[in-house]
Amino acid sequence: MMMTLPTFHLLLVGTLLLLQTSLGAEPPRPNIVIIVADDLGFNDVGFHGSTQIPTPNIDALAYSGIILNNYYVQPICTPSRSALMTGKYPIHTGLQHSTIGGSHPYGLGLSEILLPKYMTSLGYTNHHVGKWHLGFFKKVYTPTYRGFDTHFGYWSGRIDYYDHTALEQPGYWGYDMRRNMTVARDCYGKYTTDLFTNEAVDIIKKHNSSHPLFLYLAHLAVHSANPYAPLQAPKEVVQKFAYIKDKKRRTFAGESRCMGRWGARSWAVVVTLCTQPWQSC
Ligand SMILES: *[C@@H]1O[C@H](CO)[C@@H](O)[C@H](O)[C@H]1NC(C)=O
Ligand SMILES: *[C@@H]1O[C@H](CO)[C@@H](O)[C@H](O)[C@H]1NC(C)=O
Repeated sequence: MMMTLPTFHLLLVGTLLLLQTSLGAEPPRPNIVIIVADDLGFNDVGFHGSTQIPTPNIDALAYSGIILNNYYVQPICTPSRSALMTGKYPIHTGLQHSTIGGSHPYGLGLSEILLPKYMTSLGYTNHHVGKWHLGFFKKVYTPTYRGFDTHFGYWSGRIDYYDHTALEQPGYWGYDMRRNMTVARDCYGKYTTDLFTNEAVDIIKKHNSSHPLFLYLAHLAVHSANPYAPLQAPKEVVQKFAYIKDKKRRTFAGESRCMGRWGARSWAVVVTLCTQPWQSC
């Protein structure tokens, strides 16, 4: 169990709508991208009034969509993610108590049918990028065995933003980044938030539009990394926040800023998809 129980914040449920070519009498289905920010403060985004940390891309998504302020998640990770994937309150899946540690021999029950399985039955191609944290003690509990066609990310509660190691109790420490079931060693040293954003952009750009797309992009940001180096962001981004005197807060601002760092052309792709009129689905 983690010593501090992080709050978990479901930032945005961005529904990306794109006209699909109709398959016979089937109505066209919207593409769906769910972007989850981990432990982001409610007031740390521009669209909730933050003037300290600008989040222009996230604000653009919010303002071109619907902002749901009266929807809540559980205060910690595993219960929230289990609810998102099953549509059930955590009390009904047995995951209400805590987060799943690296040595814990359990996961989200295999009798549960997860969201991507339902999406598959509706003709969707499903991608998971980022954090899982719903069990990994046997491979059948991991993303590609639970309905996702592809997976790029980590299975534990948090990793180092650069070397992708997770320090887990009691005293386990190891590399946690995979593509499907293969350890993604080539990621070592690269900033996690950028890796996940780039992967998401790639998936969206390469997507074959003859099938609708479901993408669950679950960021590490802005969760703490391992306790010996909890806050990590690229220097050139942190420097933009010189006006924030507290060093920890300044680094946190850098972590937050990187979440919206998609690159102008990539972001244009996402926003174009997002701003299709709702009635088009
Ligand atoms: C992951 O699995 C999917 C489905 O088999 C495959 O299309 C994709 O290329 C795999 N990705 C990697 C990086 O192996
Ligand atoms: C997209 O998928 C359809 C249906 O599976 C296939 O016929 C088509 O060749 C694919 N297009 C590309 C560019 O891969």
